[in-house]
Amino acid sequence: MAEHIKIVEVGPRDGLQNEKQFVDTAVKIELVDRLAAAGFQNVEAASFVSPKWVPQMADGAAVMAGIDRRPGTIYSVLAPNLRGFEGALAARADEVVIFGAASEAFSQRNINCSIAESIARFEPVAAAAKEAGMRLRGSISCALGCPYQGETPVAAVVDVAERLLRLGCDEIDVADTIGVGTAAQVGRVLRAVGQVADLGTRVSGHFHDTYGQALANILAALDCGVRIFHSSVAGLGGCPYAKGATGNVATEDVLYLLRGQGLHTGVDLDAVVDIGQWISERIGRPTSSRAGRALALKKA
Ligand code: HMG
Ligand code: MG
Repeated sequence: MAEHIKIVEVGPRDGLQNEKQFVDTAVKIELVDRLAAAGFQNVEAASFVSPKWVPQMADGAAVMAGIDRRPGTIYSVLAPNLRGFEGALAARADEVVIFGAASEAFSQRNINCSIAESIARFEPVAAAAKEAGMRLRGSISCALGCPYQGETPVAAVVDVAERLLRLGCDEIDVADTIGVGTAAQVGRVLRAVGQVADLGTRVSGHFHDTYGQALANILAALDCGVRIFHSSVAGLGGCPYAKGATGNVATEDVLYLLRGQGLHTGVDLDAVVDIGQWISERIGRPTSSRAGRALALKKA
């Protein structure tokens, strides 16, 4: 049996959140449903954040109400505070994602508070999520580099990882928000995080692809023992608080890589290629997935 890799498909949330044109709720719902049907164990479907800060995610409740839930699929949503948690609970999310940063400047820009304040805000969210029997995930933005502070010290990442684990996170995401990290650095950061968390079961790699390093970074993370990765269909996305940052690594590219490595994901690459073509048409932009484009051309 090939070793299993969990892919968290973040296109509906991280992918769409930065789109300037509002994407219809019906399109978001269809996107989530098609991704779940393609075999993803975990789809990040919405955010319960301030609509003033991220207007594209303002319809999170309607998206969650409209999806056709597949038994066994984990539908995750972002919740930065108790208000967001209440939205997540009412929406019957399976997993709540609290999101902090390893960089003070980015924490201020993204969630308007210091790292320490963010952890204090997450405490009641984490407790409430546990109480409600929901999964809890903690994301660490700028784990490799920050648009305002440059390269992130490894110790800062480990510190936030420890604090998130203490809050009871089932999983923590080492996120390269602006896609600047390189493979050697990924190795250094993950080996250090591995001192406080089990890399094989509790840590994911969330790589944006701004500098074209994401696939190499995934290989480096695999080498360290990480078995959970985040990606976005068609490479959708960017970060509203990180100028110039492009989307997450494209799911099609990741699936193609992993298949070549003889690793199992349970996701139907062919279906994801079609979804990538469809959503790119809907938002009026060509796919940024190289594998997606090549495989779609082969089908045409
Ligand atoms: P704040 O201004 O410090 O907090 O925002 P506040 O409590 O003073 O609230 C301000 C306003 O937001 C108020 O409305 C609240 O009611 C409202 P007003 O009185 O001005 O009309 N509000 C909310 N509305 C809906 N849902 C809520 C909520 N909370 C407050 N949950 C806050 C703090 C965190 C809320 C704000 O900064 C925010 O929403 N930021 C958005 C952050 C975000 O979504 N960023 C993108 C996702 S993170 C990401 O992409 C990184 C990741 O992919 C990993 C990586 O790549 O690094 C995960
Ligand atoms: Mg991200």
